[in-house]
Amino acid sequence: MAREFTSVGVVGLGTMGAGIVEVFARNGVDVVAVEISETALQRGRATLTGSTDRAVAKGKLAEADRDALLSRVDFQVGLDALHSVDLVIEAVPEHLDLKQRIFAELDRVCKPEAILATNTSSLSVTEISVATTRPNQVIGIHFFNPAPVMKLVEVVRTVVTSADVVADVEALCKRLGKVDVTISDRAGFIANALLFGYLNHAVGMFESHYASREDIDAAMKLGCGLPMGPLALMDLIGLDTAYEILDTMYRRGGRDRRHAPVPLIKQMVTAGLLGRKSGRGFYTYERPGSPVVVPDEQTPVATESALADGARGIMKVGVVGSGTMATGIIEVFAKAGYEVVSVTRGAEKSAKVFESVKTSLNKGVVRGKLSEADRDAALGRINWSATLEHLADVDLVVEAVVEELSVKKALFASLDEICKPGVVLATTTSSLPVIDVAMATQRPADVVGLHFFNPAPIMPLVEVVQTIRTSAETTATAKAVCAALGKTGVVCGDRSGFIVNALLFPYLNDAVKMLEASYSTADDIDHAMKLGCGYPMGPFELLDVVGLDVSLAIQRELYLELREPGFAPAPLLEHLVTAGYLGRKTGRGFRDHTRR
Ligand SMILES: NC(=O)c1ccc[n+]([C@@H]2O[C@H](COP(=O)([O-])OP(=O)(O)OC[C@H]3O[C@@H](n4cnc5c(N)ncnc54)[C@H](O)[C@@H]3O)[C@@H](O)[C@H]2O)c1
Repeated sequence: MAREFTSVGVVGLGTMGAGIVEVFARNGVDVVAVEISETALQRGRATLTGSTDRAVAKGKLAEADRDALLSRVDFQVGLDALHSVDLVIEAVPEHLDLKQRIFAELDRVCKPEAILATNTSSLSVTEISVATTRPNQVIGIHFFNPAPVMKLVEVVRTVVTSADVVADVEALCKRLGKVDVTISDRAGFIANALLFGYLNHAVGMFESHYASREDIDAAMKLGCGLPMGPLALMDLIGLDTAYEILDTMYRRGGRDRRHAPVPLIKQMVTAGLLGRKSGRGFYTYERPGSPVVVPDEQTPVATESALADGARGIMKVGVVGSGTMATGIIEVFAKAGYEVVSVTRGAEKSAKVFESVKTSLNKGVVRGKLSEADRDAALGRINWSATLEHLADVDLVVEAVVEELSVKKALFASLDEICKPGVVLATTTSSLPVIDVAMATQRPADVVGLHFFNPAPIMPLVEVVQTIRTSAETTATAKAVCAALGKTGVVCGDRSGFIVNALLFPYLNDAVKMLEASYSTADDIDHAMKLGCGYPMGPFELLDVVGLDVSLAIQRELYLELREPGFAPAPLLEHLVTAGYLGRKTGRGFRDHTRR
């Protein structure tokens, strides 16, 4: 029989504590909610009432249920109020000495059979537990932010936590409607160990002016389907908390430099820019605690028209190539009203591309998204050619041929000879340096990367890659073209992986390393990232879709360019590729797809 938890205590009513109180009270459990001072208590109470009022306003909670929920919470200053609860969850700031002090005090105050739990994200639950005389009743219950919304709970068992305590807490999580994964005590557990290297890297990109905050966030939202971008997430987590988590993970997790907090984070914390809770972090909010972003001095000003930014007018576009990307890009331009010249290596290839574009447009017609007349007009705007000479008078060329530097360089040298002055020359490369192809021409200022995502007609993101020689006019033109295509163009520098791949693949590689270290299973890791962080797919699901060979190649490029030891491809990934387990395309990757 699982233990009955009729009343619980929550210590610290900040970002996490207030949410944890709500989770329990919503599920019929009485809560003693404890803070350090009257002021902090009032702030915690205001967070809880604010959140439940919003739920009522959205029709997600009946007024009577809200009142019942609030009546279950007893707000108190000081730990003495916790003498008769069955379980305490501590959610005070991420400092080991503070947590140890609180646990020693809880041990003294709470009844002997009470379970003492910490919501720590990165500290050692074991080290916290030894501050008590009952380490076998100490456990990690790691909720995710916002606690009432995110489904995942990581249950952290130390070497001394007793099995019945683990089982009781697991049963409690189910009662709260949460999905739990039980793991051992390692820095960052599953989700944060995979998340924080990525967040820190994104802050590094921002700090080095590699891309703007809006563009970094838009790239990860639109390119990976994440619920929010990394900088917005840092603001939600709180920069002070994020700093402590990174710092602890760095020290506990083998001094991986990727966890050494980027200096900007410390500067922002010192300056009081803590994120949403203080009203300003990477973004500025309506007021402290508000999720509503308001414009500030970094908000890009929308100009009257793109031409005002110096963008050139583009009417006619050449697309070179006949593969998946070229085909999608031809469709995107033709549908958006551009006159398109498609150049392939022969009539046969052109016929194939024509069929693919037609089939795809027909799907739009069947789904009622495109009229037959618009389909015919789009197809009518495409001219099919097998010679580059037909690109003499286009305003923009988009190259999407094979991913080989020598081939691309030769092509750009030819385009340089053929195309009129003022043309913008774009490459869709996803891994080669854009500057290499730019320098194959006599006009590197006119060369830019336009990194579309697959499938191009559907994915809303394009990375606009500017080299150190790209002119502001060329970048403005590329951005204006993206907007005219109905896509979001994010501008970034010419580094391996641009924004999305540079942030995504090291995270996937880290997940493989975690699996390889037998810390958790592929299923639990996938669950943790989906239910704890709102990812649309878990890392192993995504790796099997992308292809393990493709992922390994990207990871190798990142490693070679940045020489970051933490980017070294996971040996398990290399072995799976060698064994021919490439993912869905071969029927087997991390999972066996033939049996599903
Ligand atoms: N922020 C997140 O996204 C997140 C997610 C999961 C877990 N966590 C973990 O949750 C814990 C709390 O983090 P947070 O972001 O909610 O911090 P926070 O700074 O928002 O809140 C901490 C609260 O603890 C209170 N407090 C400080 N000392 C206290 C004491 N002696 N007694 C009672 N209350 C005290 C503070 O007044 C404050 O309200 C940390 O261990 C953190 O790692 C945070």
